[in-house]
Amino acid sequence: MILHRYDTVTSTQAVARVLAEAGAPHGTVVLAEEQTAGRGRLDRRWESARGLNLTFTLVLRPRIAARDAPLLTLGAAAGLAVAFDLRVKWPNDLVTGEGRKVAGLLAEMDTILDRVEFVLLGVGLNVNQVAFPEWLPNAASLATVGGPQDREEVLERAVAAILAWSEHPDRLTLWRQRAHTLGKQVRIGAIEGLATGLRDDGALLVDGVPVLAGEIG
Ligand code: BTN
Repeated sequence: MILHRYDTVTSTQAVARVLAEAGAPHGTVVLAEEQTAGRGRLDRRWESARGLNLTFTLVLRPRIAARDAPLLTLGAAAGLAVAFDLRVKWPNDLVTGEGRKVAGLLAEMDTILDRVEFVLLGVGLNVNQVAFPEWLPNAASLATVGGPQDREEVLERAVAAILAWSEHPDRLTLWRQRAHTLGKQVRIGAIEGLATGLRDDGALLVDGVPVLAGEIG
């Protein structure tokens, strides 16, 4: 594993972008102990307690068309779910059996025409934090479920799982097996209904209607 370690950065996504634009190879990892401007999906912030969790970005150079990029993230989430015995909340949150969030993924990509040049796959994985601020009532960590963990070992396992599953031909089958969302009543923006399946393009089927992006409320 090519690992770039930092103490404090704004966001590992920003550091990884500079490295990727300079040609960093597939599998390069940018890890920081602390982010001052950690980013989540949907323009949110990602807060992570210093020294307890993992915040890193993996540079991927998949040979895929831009329209297939969501599948890469679904595959990464499915791989992480298997590696750490978690479930996946659509599209790619890692949650405990009770639905508490342990990790989130943020994918940003650069394209040349319709081909993906690189994907920056950001991973915020709660490892040893067991007390969370009151505004994160639904947060959990690997330690919440399985006791304290060795962060170095968790990092290696996480990176290996993402590299193995992000482009795996059976990734959606694995996602469906590890799904927390399927068979449940969900609300995504104005859409509410039963999550009946995951379509082959990554859309969630809610009462049979495809939803391509959003967040389950
Ligand atoms: C989410 O669930 O909203 C996605 C969270 C992704 C957070 C990670 S932490 C490492 C990387 N750097 C960032 O600024 N964000 C991602």
